[in-house]
Amino acid sequence: SSYKMPSQYFQYKGINFSPPSYTPESLNFAENEFQVLDDDVYNVTYPKSGTSWMLEILSLIRNNGDPTWARTVPNWLRCPWYETVEGQEQMKDVEPPRAICSHLPHQLFAKSFFSSKAKIIYTLRNPKDVMVSLFYFSKILCLYQDSGTFEEYLEIFLKGEVPYGSWFDHVKGWMKMKGQSNFFYITYEELLKDLRGSVVRICKFLGRDLDDTAIDSVVENSTFKALKENTMSNYSLLPTSFMDQTKGSFYRKGVSGDWKNHFTVAQSEHFDRVYQEKMKDCDIKFFWEI
Ligand code: A3P
Repeated sequence: SSYKMPSQYFQYKGINFSPPSYTPESLNFAENEFQVLDDDVYNVTYPKSGTSWMLEILSLIRNNGDPTWARTVPNWLRCPWYETVEGQEQMKDVEPPRAICSHLPHQLFAKSFFSSKAKIIYTLRNPKDVMVSLFYFSKILCLYQDSGTFEEYLEIFLKGEVPYGSWFDHVKGWMKMKGQSNFFYITYEELLKDLRGSVVRICKFLGRDLDDTAIDSVVENSTFKALKENTMSNYSLLPTSFMDQTKGSFYRKGVSGDWKNHFTVAQSEHFDRVYQEKMKDCDIKFFWEI
């Protein structure tokens, strides 16, 4: 059938999560028991903000630009999701220094992080493009409830009735760490505008000294095309019952400003009003298109 099986979210401390990859136990473990190591690097994002892109950049930097690892090991094993049931199993085989993915909001993040020297890279993307990307992704990922029509989904997104909760709360929560030495943030739009310059900044934050050839290789192997073609990064190894890419690609468009093809003027103005209200105390600036 062309309809996805409905997924029933449960709430953990007021935030929606999707079984069976997330359980109250896996989230409690992630929050309260998981042991952060000082040389861990966390790739933290709200969904659809460039997680897989940053994951690939980190995989390549780890190996001085050598793409072998990124081309031979699925990305979810290179950089597991520490809050999921599967990820917590996969974590056991990861050798330090670890790179770890998370979509958790700041208030649910591993408590042991906050007394560690581990680092966080937080990637954000303009929320209109996030919503468009999530709208399509919700039609192919079994864990997410179908997004229905764009009009319906707009309200659901603005209310934060999606997995991991409100985009606004996620961004405001994490951006409280701005200025701390183990916190680095970058936007999807900056990556898109200047991938090489972004990679150089990321290396600097990580204290990694890569030569120009290595940097070039990181860049070449983390373009949209490279990721879309890399079997270990394009999720084609997942069963269609989990992610059905016959209904749309994970690497869908990879551009900034696609929201203009989806929002009506009225919807965009409505979004802007909610944005202004919710983000008034947060001075983060986005490129809304590039
Ligand atoms: P679109 O749906 O707008 O194409 P995440 O990894 O957080 O789920 O984010 C997925 C989004 O990032 C998708 O956006 C995907 O195409 C985009 N993306 C991933 N790698 C990219 C790259 N190298 N360049 C540009 N966009 C990329």
